[in-house]
Amino acid sequence: MNKKIDTEKCESFIDDLISKMTLEQKVLQLQQVSANCVGEKKFWEFVDKGAGSFLHVLGKDLPKAKKKMKNADKIPAIYGIDAIHGHALHNGATVFPSQLSMACSWNPKLVEEMGVATASEVASDGIEWMFSPVLCLGRDLRWGRVDETFGEDPYLVGELGAAIVRGYEKAGNVIACAKHYLGYGEATGGMDSYDTEVTERKIREVFLPPFKKAIDAGCSSIMTAYGSIDGTPITASHRLMTEILRDELGFDGFVVTDWCNVEHMVNDQKVFPSNYESSVACINAGNDMCMNSPDFYPSIVKAVKNGDVTEETLNDRVRNVLRVKYRLGMFENNRKQRNTIGAEKHKKLNHAIAKESLVLLENNGVLPLKKSTDKIGVYGLNATDVHNTYGDWTFYTHPDLNLNATPLSEAYTVWEGMKVVFGEGNLFYNQGYDFNGNIFELQACDTAVVVLGDHFTHNGECHDRQGIEVEKNQIEMLKRLRKLCKNIIVVMICGKPLLLDEVKENSDAIIMAFNPGGRGGLAIAEMINGDFSPSGKLPISIPHRSGQIPCYYNRLPGWHAWKYVDSPAGNAYDFGDGLSYTKFDYAEIKVSSKKLREGKSVTVSGRITNNGDYDGAEIVQLYYRDVVSSVITPVKNLCGFRKIFLKKGETKNFSFKIKPEDLSLVNANCERVTEKGKFQLFVGANLKNLTVLEIEYV
Ligand code: GLC
Repeated sequence: MNKKIDTEKCESFIDDLISKMTLEQKVLQLQQVSANCVGEKKFWEFVDKGAGSFLHVLGKDLPKAKKKMKNADKIPAIYGIDAIHGHALHNGATVFPSQLSMACSWNPKLVEEMGVATASEVASDGIEWMFSPVLCLGRDLRWGRVDETFGEDPYLVGELGAAIVRGYEKAGNVIACAKHYLGYGEATGGMDSYDTEVTERKIREVFLPPFKKAIDAGCSSIMTAYGSIDGTPITASHRLMTEILRDELGFDGFVVTDWCNVEHMVNDQKVFPSNYESSVACINAGNDMCMNSPDFYPSIVKAVKNGDVTEETLNDRVRNVLRVKYRLGMFENNRKQRNTIGAEKHKKLNHAIAKESLVLLENNGVLPLKKSTDKIGVYGLNATDVHNTYGDWTFYTHPDLNLNATPLSEAYTVWEGMKVVFGEGNLFYNQGYDFNGNIFELQACDTAVVVLGDHFTHNGECHDRQGIEVEKNQIEMLKRLRKLCKNIIVVMICGKPLLLDEVKENSDAIIMAFNPGGRGGLAIAEMINGDFSPSGKLPISIPHRSGQIPCYYNRLPGWHAWKYVDSPAGNAYDFGDGLSYTKFDYAEIKVSSKKLREGKSVTVSGRITNNGDYDGAEIVQLYYRDVVSSVITPVKNLCGFRKIFLKKGETKNFSFKIKPEDLSLVNANCERVTEKGKFQLFVGANLKNLTVLEIEYV
């Protein structure tokens, strides 16, 4: 929470309030429900009782519920919603690119601005709480929710996560929720909500850093993941929920479980015989609020009476919730919010983000298309499909499936964007194939813009994939078009990385857009036309074969042969890859000293010149490697980046200040330390073009 408040005043307000609350009123503060889970009848019963929170309440039900509770002099409930890439569950709000798409911008400032805009639109609906950002790591591409992540790297995820939290909480009338705590995306086999077999050391090294950055950025709430760590459900882990999250990281907001985690531990994970024991374990481990699982409320009332949950524990959990409500000003009546849903300035911001989120993966010179008079064919289902242009977590998919809705916010698909930029006279559209494996009659043309990808049902909760191949009929259509058309420009509209080797063999350029949001199609068409030079870089690796998964760049050394016998070595595209229309040259990369000392820093610096024909932006990346370490450490780890905008012909200097703690590892005793000895620093445009610098920590 960025809003500064008088802590003493807040705590004494809470003390006074708690002293007047009954046991039932206290426990109600910890119960959150949604009508689409508990049903309308029970939902309104919880409104009448005065539950602490509700989720997915849109339209007229929200003011109605608030009014009922106010008239009954209940403690105001906090309303939550999944605003994962804009307030997109509200049809008419600005739908930004997905987190994975936005991460390609490597632009924390833009991401923070998106956070401010989204918070403003959420607050316009009277909602105070966003279940965002997702800080899971997209390290296993089979997992269904890679699209919701900022990619595979802890440093980049942490920087973008902290930025969006600052944006969400800046105005002080909405709070963020860092989720899903933690290691959720690392479940064995990429299987959603399954067990994650990692040690505490690996948790501290890889999965905890983004949450620490979000907490340090002022994040007011955390959501517990569904899964388990080495057999212990995270929701029941006192070690994770209290000793690490509270005692070590100093988190002072509140924790909410994910959807029905209490029942999940009984019905699926089978670690408790009934919701009573599961609810007790949830509270005693350190969770504050329970999302759905309505048995939680009566169970905890009973548990306090039985002594299975102490009054002190209960009061502590209630304080955490009331403290955030106080900080939000929910006990005052002067919170006003102008309606900014779908505001013009948010559309402009969406456009800027969409442009910076596009990644040019291949280009044999065909791009940019000079404003040619050639006939341009636009092919593919995803060229006109709004669901897939938007991606998951929109009014089409949540709180309930609503695929026939008419989008009230902007929905520039590639086809719509191409018409705006190139004019309808020069274009024709052909869907090209259908989901029954049929390939349609295909027309020859000078330039084909072929939109490939996946369907939003290939992503999302409970939608993991065993492989990430592009559908055969799409590849077949592409191969036929290769024979018919002079230029083939492929645009990927997909939730997660897909295999691109065959796409590369049959095209002249590849643009990766992931789910580019409401202005996505327009930005793609403008880029094809050369209105701007692409600057996006991948926040995630793309393998040659599904069997290479996991394929993240910061792998450990020590693998025999470094490749599978039946797959090319390495990745098809690496983390940090992305081409430009212009040309950046690096010079004078150096480090200020070869010796790094305790409490001191060294500076890595260099110069970059735009020697091409386009203004553009370069993302300078800085990695490190601990040459000899007490535990095996990754071959490279991102520890800094700079996005530098350069007009053509312009030169700029860049620098990174490196302190010992920037080069740390987590040792066998689970201590984060920086060990004395040699380090390599790597600076450059991507993992294949790096200048190596040697330093020693003495
Ligand atoms: C879902 C998701 C979580 C979301 C919550 C509320 O099951 O796991 O990310 O915030 O429930 O919709």
